[in-house]
Amino acid sequence: MCGIVGYVGPKATVDVLIGGLRRLEYRGYDSAGVAVVADGQLETRKKAGKLVNLEHEIAEHPLPKAHIGIGHTRWATHGAPTDGNAHPHLGGPAQKLALIHNGIIENFAELKAELLAEGTNFASETDTEVAAHLIARAFEQSGDLKAAFASVMNRLHGAFTILVVHQDQPDVVLAARRNAPLVIGLGDGENFLGSDVAAFVEHTKRAVSVGQDEIVVLKADSVEVFGFDGTPVNFTEFEVNWDASAASKGGWPSFMAKEIADQPQAIADTLMGRVRADGRVVLDDIQQMSTEQIREIDRIIIVACGTASYAGDVAKYAIEKWARIPVQVELSHEFRYRNPIVTQNTLVLAISQSGETMDTLMAIRYAQELGAKVFAICNTQGATLARESDAVIYTHAGPEVAVASTKALTSQIVAGYMLALALAEARGAMTEDARLALGRELLQLPASVSEVLANIDQASALGTAHANAKSVLFLGRNVGYPIAMEGALKLKEIAYIHAEGFAAGELKHGPIALIEEGQPVIVIVPSPNDVDSLHPKVVSNIQEIRARGAKVIAIAEAGDETVSQYAESVIFVPKTDSIMAAVLDVIPLQAFALALSTAKGLDVDQPRNLAKSVTVE
Ligand code: F6R
Repeated sequence: MCGIVGYVGPKATVDVLIGGLRRLEYRGYDSAGVAVVADGQLETRKKAGKLVNLEHEIAEHPLPKAHIGIGHTRWATHGAPTDGNAHPHLGGPAQKLALIHNGIIENFAELKAELLAEGTNFASETDTEVAAHLIARAFEQSGDLKAAFASVMNRLHGAFTILVVHQDQPDVVLAARRNAPLVIGLGDGENFLGSDVAAFVEHTKRAVSVGQDEIVVLKADSVEVFGFDGTPVNFTEFEVNWDASAASKGGWPSFMAKEIADQPQAIADTLMGRVRADGRVVLDDIQQMSTEQIREIDRIIIVACGTASYAGDVAKYAIEKWARIPVQVELSHEFRYRNPIVTQNTLVLAISQSGETMDTLMAIRYAQELGAKVFAICNTQGATLARESDAVIYTHAGPEVAVASTKALTSQIVAGYMLALALAEARGAMTEDARLALGRELLQLPASVSEVLANIDQASALGTAHANAKSVLFLGRNVGYPIAMEGALKLKEIAYIHAEGFAAGELKHGPIALIEEGQPVIVIVPSPNDVDSLHPKVVSNIQEIRARGAKVIAIAEAGDETVSQYAESVIFVPKTDSIMAAVLDVIPLQAFALALSTAKGLDVDQPRNLAKSVTVE
């Protein structure tokens, strides 16, 4: 939600800001704006709509050469996505201060009433503008910008990353964060701020993750960090482990297409160094927990949202089957507010690509208050989730820019498998032979995913052929069930058509009434060799819906010829373990949604109403 970038240094500031915003646009694309200070004069440009509108505005009304500035790309919360509500917002009657904000200022109404009573004029309907006026007013009174900034940060409630420049202090960007992300990029004679490292990775790989309730004083040759109470804070750098090209399309028509194709590498990178050639999983990431403590875990609660929650559903099947620990999967926002039962022997596992999803952060904070240990599966170095969890299993999927998650999901699922096998070993829940065989199967996944991708045209052609479909249903059992829900979610979010995923066995309990002549249904068919014998049951489900007019596309294991007789089309994926099949089955569904959305002429990377990182509750 909202991307933020700040810069102080010798480079052409507008270019640095626009370049940073381009990489952050996935966070929100309702409007964009920049502010620079040049020759002691504050200048801003802002425009509703995508970043390209701002670029046109700047081309028509160029900004002066500057060495300091801030930029923002918005996902609207308070106030419609108009030019007037776009950030930056100006503060004070003389309008010498510009401010950008990511998050929600929950007590803005009361602060606005105070300012209105004093005669302040507001130019927007946003919650943000109050902060700009309050800081400008406090600075006029004290003449100390940092103190004025800190005093206002202490008055704000809610979630915010705020960046400010002031034309009377043209060498400094001030920044603060509470419950919203902020990372510093350390350069040589220049420094950067960003909502994430994508904002500045083309300029520097040295980064610092800013902590909760901290203020940054950023100058070209110095960076200082303070608590909201003014106490200096020591910080440690980390090195960004992906380069700028990883966040560009690299010749693909969309980021989503590129990220689907990235999956063999993303999975291989996530497995690297963690699964030995003999199949043993060595997950140093969770060493914080002794074998003894792992044995004491009596329940795992997985918290996540959206696609990440489907990774959690798959992990549940793996952990329960292999490690024999009871698992429940909860949407983070439901978990937090229903007084759940959590004890010291509960392990809470949070799954999040961004590591900044506010619902998930609130869930883990609550779990920690109740005494649980929190592990995270996260794709973003320096993210709040990673900082606040007891242990982090990083997925190494690289930056995921398309709003619809693809490679992050399959990497999360793989991380879940590794955790399940590590827990199985610690608890002695499986024979060593069986465990090592699964570990070796994991190592085959990148090659199997490449095989699926080599035949992806079939799924894409089916997607294109269904461009006029009004609704598509998805069915699956076992791990195929969350994959069915993921297939439906992909279609809703990027193709804007009605889609639903069902547990195939549930159909006869109601949803089968939806089936009418010509209804497309995609069915995830389990392996015919599966020990749980689900295959014949799903084949029966297919027959039930075909008898009522459904047109079936089946995703089935290579060699499963029985299915061909009952489906209009069959997409075959390589044979693997029945639980690991989730990773292979989901890929044709991603390609189907991508092709269908493209055929409808939609923006696959930036679907309407959405943002990549949901940093409000
Ligand atoms: C859908 C999608 C979302 C995210 C969800 C959680 O394609 O990307 O459903 O999975 O918003 O985001 P993270 O993983 O960043 O917590």
